[in-house]
Parts: sequence; C-alpha cells; structure tokens
Amino acid sequence: MHTSQWRVRWRIEGVRPENRTEGGRGLARNPFHFTEGHGNPASSAGVTERAVIPADQDEPSWAVGGSYQVIRIIRLATDFWDRDSIHEQERIIGRRRDGRWLDGTPSDEQPVFAADPHGKTTPLDAHVRRAAPDRRRLPPPMVRRSYNYHQGTEDQGLIFSCFQRVLDKGFEAVQHRLQGEAMSKYTLTVGGGYFFVPPPGDAWLAAAT
Ligand code: HEM
Repeated sequence: MHTSQWRVRWRIEGVRPENRTEGGRGLARNPFHFTEGHGNPASSAGVTERAVIPADQDEPSWAVGGSYQVIRIIRLATDFWDRDSIHEQERIIGRRRDGRWLDGTPSDEQPVFAADPHGKTTPLDAHVRRAAPDRRRLPPPMVRRSYNYHQGTEDQGLIFSCFQRVLDKGFEAVQHRLQGEAMSKYTLTVGGGYFFVPPPGDAWLAAAT
C-alpha cells in the first residue's frame, strides 16, 4: 500500500522455517521446534469465515473485506525450553512436534478432551487445551500466521500474528484463557499491537478519507 502520507514506522524481519502447505493449511516450524498451523482452517472459505469482515457486521462499508490483526512480539526462552525432554515439551504444548495429538488422534482430526477430564493425557494447562478447550464446539474464530525472529544471540522468539473478524471473540478470548498455561514460564511478550488490515485494492481509501 503506497500513499504519499504513509511511511514505514517500524519493522522486524521474520522467517518461517519449513514453510509449506499440507491439506490446505500453511505450516511452519517455530523456535520451540513445534509445527504451527494445524489449528487453522484448511480452506480459503474457512479463513474468510474466521478472519474477513463481512458486510453484515455493523462496520463502516470501507472496512468490509478487511481484517483485524493482532501482532505480539513474544520472546522465547529457548535455552531453558531445550533443557526439557521432548515428552515434557509435548505435554506443555498439547500436541506432538509434528502436530499429532497426545492421545494419538491424527493432526487433522479432533481429539475428544471430554474423554480425558483430568488431563492425564493432555494436561489441562497445555497450550492447545487452553486455547481451544472444547473440541465439540467451534474452534477459536481466528487465523494464525506467525514468523520466527532472531535478533543477536539472546533474543529470539515468535512474531505472533493473527487475523479475526472480531477482536474480543478471537485473540482476546483466547489470550484470556491462556493465562496460567504451562508454557507461560518460557515466554515474555515484549511488544505488539492491534492493527486494521484494509481490504485488497484501494477502493476503500476514497470511502475512508
Ligand atoms: C508464545 C508463543 C506461542 C507458541 C510457541 C505457540 C505454539 C502453538 C503450537 C505449536 C500450536 C499447535 C499447532 C497449531 O494448531 O498451530 C498452537 C496452537 C494454537 N495457538 Fe499458539 N503459540 C503461541 C502463542 C499463542 C498466542 C499468543 C495465541 C492467542 C492468543 C495462540 C493461539 C493458539 C490457537 C488458537 C491454537 C489452535 C488451537 C486449536 O484449535 O487446536 N498461541 N500454538
């Protein structure tokens, strides 16, 4: 997007190691060595349903087709993390590194957490269990697309990025549930913000100004 009044105010470089598409989902490997992206929708219709603002959402007409984006710069204590066994790491995330569920359910199917009410197989404070607790209901209405960053020798982590139609049902509801998750002692959020991503093209600009 280029207009004469716009300029870059801030930037950070990120990468997506092992970036690929499998079963319609974009996948990559995060700095904790886990595959990210399995919980996203597999079709572009699913992405639109979770992330793109529809005409009947009580938003200004120029916002229709856009999305609310949340970015969080999350520093990860990778040295500390790497001291744990893979088994322990998998119990903290709630999936295996390749995305399979801890009860053996394939990565693109849904486990029944209700069959494990005390968290014997998937701990109650595991990341995915907190993020999306009830597998029989709809998944959180957001689409994630994060990048790894690496600055200097000590500072590395995730440029967490997600898109949604409504912030309080998407990012904010999930972030609230993540409070107290087992992964929190390995993470430190050091920056980020809320952004509006305009619809493709520049027709919206005339309507918005
Ligand atoms: C601290 C850095 C984070 C790491 C390392 C991380 C890692 C992961 C991993 C490995 C998965 C499982 C694979 C997948 O579904 O993509 C996952 C799932 C998920 N994460 Fe995160 N995540 C982080 C932060 C966050 C934050 C800040 C949020 C939102 C507030 C979030 C929301 C979710 C959601 C909604 C899922 C999918 C749950 C599901 O439907 O199964 N994550 N995350």
